Amino acid sequence: MDNCTYVIFGATGNLSRVKLMPALYHLEAAGKLSEGTRILAIGRRDWDLEKCTGQVREWVNAKARGGLDPEVFERFASRLSYFRGDLTEQGMYSRLHRHIDDSEHLPSNVAFYMAIRPAEFGVVTENLSDSGLLDESRGWKRVVIEKPFGYDLESAQSLQRRISRYLREDQLYRIDHYLGKGTVQNVLVYRFANTMMEPLWNRNYIDHIQITHSESMGVDSRADFYDGAGAMRDMIQSHLLQLLTLVAMEPPVSMEAESLRDEKVKVLKSIRPIVQQAVHAHAFRAQYTEGVVDGQRVNGYLQEPKVPAGSITETYAALKLYIDNWRWRGVPIYLRTGKRMAESQSLVSICFRHPPQQFFRDTPMDHMRQNWVLLGIQPAECLKVEMTVKEPGLEMRTRQTSLDASLRRTDEAQTDAYEELLLDVIQGDRSLFLRYDEVEYAWRVVDPVLRAWATERDFIHTYPAGSWGPEESRRLFEKEAQHWRHSLAPEHP
Ligand code: BG6
Repeated sequence: MDNCTYVIFGATGNLSRVKLMPALYHLEAAGKLSEGTRILAIGRRDWDLEKCTGQVREWVNAKARGGLDPEVFERFASRLSYFRGDLTEQGMYSRLHRHIDDSEHLPSNVAFYMAIRPAEFGVVTENLSDSGLLDESRGWKRVVIEKPFGYDLESAQSLQRRISRYLREDQLYRIDHYLGKGTVQNVLVYRFANTMMEPLWNRNYIDHIQITHSESMGVDSRADFYDGAGAMRDMIQSHLLQLLTLVAMEPPVSMEAESLRDEKVKVLKSIRPIVQQAVHAHAFRAQYTEGVVDGQRVNGYLQEPKVPAGSITETYAALKLYIDNWRWRGVPIYLRTGKRMAESQSLVSICFRHPPQQFFRDTPMDHMRQNWVLLGIQPAECLKVEMTVKEPGLEMRTRQTSLDASLRRTDEAQTDAYEELLLDVIQGDRSLFLRYDEVEYAWRVVDPVLRAWATERDFIHTYPAGSWGPEESRRLFEKEAQHWRHSLAPEHP
């Protein structure tokens, strides 16, 4: 594997603390970083190397699986250096350039990780280019960009126009950390490495699909970002639409990045556009009020720190989509996400159609239940297939049972999504990163809803913290019998 310098802009911030540094440490522990790889932390704070190492040690300590291993940390720390700099200061970039060039320890393959405010992506890229830091004559240069890529369709297009002046598409690594989650990748393995399911994976057998990401946490200290975003931008435009592409796509030509991304874009392009008059039939938003989570009384959104008075930002969003292609035409797909909900979980639930005939009409089993396939993304990483079986005994009674193909054995360690993604950047593997057209088409899906919501500023539904969201969201369902699936446990044991 190539040696590289991992430059982290925003290295003293939250993402670096909770995700990036712990992930790099775990890569060290797994022996995945090549000998010469170095990490150059950039921040505004007046730190020296000792201070930086001490901080990183604390951050890693809080997250290290099985506790921090001092020997591994020492190896990791020997790769670390700190560079003090302000992103808004032009001279910083040429100083950085000289610093990388002059240091014999810093490899000239460089990955720039933008753990910074999205509004700064454009100007930082411009400055990197102007100061020659993107010059590839002595080694590759890659730029990792966090979500959100733009704020809506128009701003995503203009950000893309701006950065593509300085970077080729193959230098850009747009992160959606959901794609680094093991179970998300397992969606593809499950679908394309097992022949059993694929013949059933279409409109002939599937009644509807639900993709849910719920969190019991509130917005915490992130309201300054979150209030301007809301659940639709924060979760649905990115993570949930990505999950949907994997669930719904056609088998790619190969697992190579471009083939995979071609198929994902085809799904996004096939999503039926939501016309302005249909926004209310397709989308639902709400905001949490105070309530009880895990036995604790918690604030409503409007009482959270830094939330502007009277904000109508949604903390819950649900969306009904149709994919107009041969495989999925007519199958409703429901995406749903919320903060301060009853439980934290991510779940893909696939509900199969009723059997075509009610054979058992004249028995105590009056009507048959539908089969579900449940893909638990987190916290349980599992795959369950629910089937109906006869109860032992003389009568024709049935119960639901679940075939369980759990992903992880108890002795197998759980890795964080960022570990996989940070490593892929060094290896130049872009299959788990977003190509620009994926981002653009995802914005096209949610843009009509965002535009309608932006003009309706006087009312938002509410739900008590700790609940599963407002009852009224049921209005999205196409049929009376459809309902939100909250849990992996069989509904009718
Ligand atoms: C982030 C969102 O992208 O994903 C957060 O900005 C959300 O609001 C988070 O909480 C969820 O990801 P995970 O991996 O913690 O489930």
